[in-house]
Amino acid sequence: MAQFGLKLGVRRVLITALLAALVGIPIVFMFHEPAALHLQSILDNFNSQLGTDTLTEIPQLSFWEHKRLGYLLKKASMPNKTVILTPLNHAWVTAGMIDLYFESFREGENIQELVNHIVIVAIDKLAYDSCTQIHPHCFMLRTNGVDFSGEKVYMSEDYLKMTWRKIKFLQNVLEMGYNFIFSDADILWFRNPFTLLVEDFDVQMSMDIANEANTGFIYVLSNKRTINLFKYWYGTRERNLGVHEQDSFKKMLGEQGVKDIGLKLRLLETSLFSGYCERSNDLLHVCTMHATCCVGLGQKMGYLRSALNAWKEFKALPPHEKLSKVPNWGSC
Ligand SMILES: *[C@@H]1O[C@H](CO)[C@@H](O)[C@H](O)[C@H]1NC(C)=O
Repeated sequence: MAQFGLKLGVRRVLITALLAALVGIPIVFMFHEPAALHLQSILDNFNSQLGTDTLTEIPQLSFWEHKRLGYLLKKASMPNKTVILTPLNHAWVTAGMIDLYFESFREGENIQELVNHIVIVAIDKLAYDSCTQIHPHCFMLRTNGVDFSGEKVYMSEDYLKMTWRKIKFLQNVLEMGYNFIFSDADILWFRNPFTLLVEDFDVQMSMDIANEANTGFIYVLSNKRTINLFKYWYGTRERNLGVHEQDSFKKMLGEQGVKDIGLKLRLLETSLFSGYCERSNDLLHVCTMHATCCVGLGQKMGYLRSALNAWKEFKALPPHEKLSKVPNWGSC
């Protein structure tokens, strides 16, 4: 009898526990999850207003994305495993920036062939679809939960995520053994930069003005040092919340961790790798023109159009006039 009573007691406890589990778990979900989500959205909202970075995990490439990237890099690469990478979003397509970018390769001095080595890195689906209409090498770079199709306000949360996504992606490309020139789409190419980029540096990077690095145009060789550099760079995201990758880069250059990497870095003179912040006067040698210091898509497009016109005007001059031509690049 006593034994039976005990068993009955045990059974009652078990049944109660089971019922509690069946009823209780949904209750926990019903009350806790919306509350948690609500809190998260308040935090996200708060953070995006502050323009800080919520440090959401940036996803690794999936197995298939990795395969697809490998295939594209191989297809677009020069024989020595070098590619040109250019990011693209829908807003830049709509504004006509990518057309201007490609036009500069046609208008430049013998650089049309380089277009075959460009991989466009689309950061939203619409940009990807547009890319496939105009270019053979398009890669879709996904970032879960963020819509990168609109124009990103400088230093907004999405803007920051976009810049950090880029660093992680470039690290992946280096790990796959490819050297690259990373070039933003708001850069016009006039001449072949490879002839000016020397072999004995790991990283060669453009500048806004003297000694101020600009990450819009970077040439990176794939080796152990540069892979470590990009890992380190990405790692600074946690320490520098709300800071974009370019400022993080400048900050980290002074750090022991970067010195230990033993990286050979060269900043590229603005007379050759030029931008609106510090416009080149040297039409005979200038290689690229970047819409730096122009804020917003409208300003950037205005400047790029007038700079490309200035270049065309220069090209049309007879040789003796070219020598003395003073550039008038226009303004933002
Ligand atoms: C790869 O080849 C191109 C074209 O010949 C050359 O300009 C460039 O410097 C080479 N890059 C490397 C890393 O050897």
